Amino acid sequence: MVEEVILGPFKQLLTMEGMRSCGPLSDHELPIIQNAGIHIHQGYIQHVGPFDALRKKTIPIQEIEYSAVGLPGLIDAHTHLCWAGSRANEYALRLSGASYQSIAEKGGGILNTVRMTRQASLEELVSLMEKRCGSLLNQGVTTCEVKSGYGLTLEDELKILHAIQVTREKQKIDLIPTCLTAHTKPPEFDTNSLYLEYIATHLLPIVRAKKLANRIDIFVDKEAFSLKEARNYLQKAKEIGFQLTAHADQFSRGGSSLAAELGAVSADHLEASTAEDWEQLKNAKVIPVVLPGASLGLGIPYAPARRMLDQGLPVAIASDWNPGSAPMGYLLLQAAIMGATEKLTMAETFAAITFRAAKALRLEDRGILKPGFRADCVIYPCDDYREILYAQGALLPKMTLTAKQWKMDA
Ligand code: NIG
Ligand code: FE
Repeated sequence: MVEEVILGPFKQLLTMEGMRSCGPLSDHELPIIQNAGIHIHQGYIQHVGPFDALRKKTIPIQEIEYSAVGLPGLIDAHTHLCWAGSRANEYALRLSGASYQSIAEKGGGILNTVRMTRQASLEELVSLMEKRCGSLLNQGVTTCEVKSGYGLTLEDELKILHAIQVTREKQKIDLIPTCLTAHTKPPEFDTNSLYLEYIATHLLPIVRAKKLANRIDIFVDKEAFSLKEARNYLQKAKEIGFQLTAHADQFSRGGSSLAAELGAVSADHLEASTAEDWEQLKNAKVIPVVLPGASLGLGIPYAPARRMLDQGLPVAIASDWNPGSAPMGYLLLQAAIMGATEKLTMAETFAAITFRAAKALRLEDRGILKPGFRADCVIYPCDDYREILYAQGALLPKMTLTAKQWKMDA
């Protein structure tokens, strides 16, 4: 990618500019520029508009020689990309009737991946993540949140957060790190509260000082951390200056209400939440992130995204890519499949994986194609945007462009 370029023509460019930040969206509201071009300077958008007008400028042109539809690069706002090993054996057990919780109670589940991730070196983790980032870029994802949480000791969690940092420096995709050391209690500790006390005192200050992450996550549920434990831990994290998010209401209610109480940026999962919980999230401006990949992986119903939208919430969709509950790691496919069942309009689905997902990460420079924003863009080989979700993930992008790319190529 050169320093300055006019890219086009796009048969259609879905800029997502000016769309409502909350609630339902109809496809008529999609801002579409026909026969469009994008003027990019040093990885940022200077201008979007009709290609014929843009090409008159004395700027190099990168011509797209096929029918193309462009949209903002996809944003995956919730993943656990940094792990080693496989849990295909557990998946087979679940297909034979075992539950996710019963596998975890026997020492499998998250702790299974923890054992394998502790054994992996930083270099091995970087190489595994690089492969996963390559697959994300091929699917059009240009920003991906990545959680720690498969180390659960000071050293191993720092190794994971460093591995995310190293991968971020090497990759064209932007990675947003989140510290999820409060994923589950490791066997080295007798109680949840002793463990949380330990990480709040010893790990969080290092994460903050070394700028390894500015977001803290916790798994709030019956099998993980209780509301009381989570409140205490998250309050400490907030005092240190972290943004908060939570794995909330996946199997039992309570987590989303806590996220609202503490002013978290997002509350993720929400399969078990109710209209009362959504009202609290809406009032506290917490972004609800639903994770169809976890429903597909566990064979459980989706979070009720349609009803949340109808209640006025700004629903975002993420893949939850992880080795246990969501091994697929394909955001657009999952959003398309969930959209078919939940009856999400195409505008709602695209919003959920672009600008509404950016809100879930509190990122204000992406998710929309407009001047001043990052030139993160995904280009599909088709002449009508509806072909993209119609193909339910089978239509792959022809090109994915990122703001980081021009710097790395330079
Ligand atoms: O988002 N719910 C907790 N954490 C992950 C699963 C992690 C795992 O099973 O390894 C999730 O589903
Ligand atoms: Fe998750």
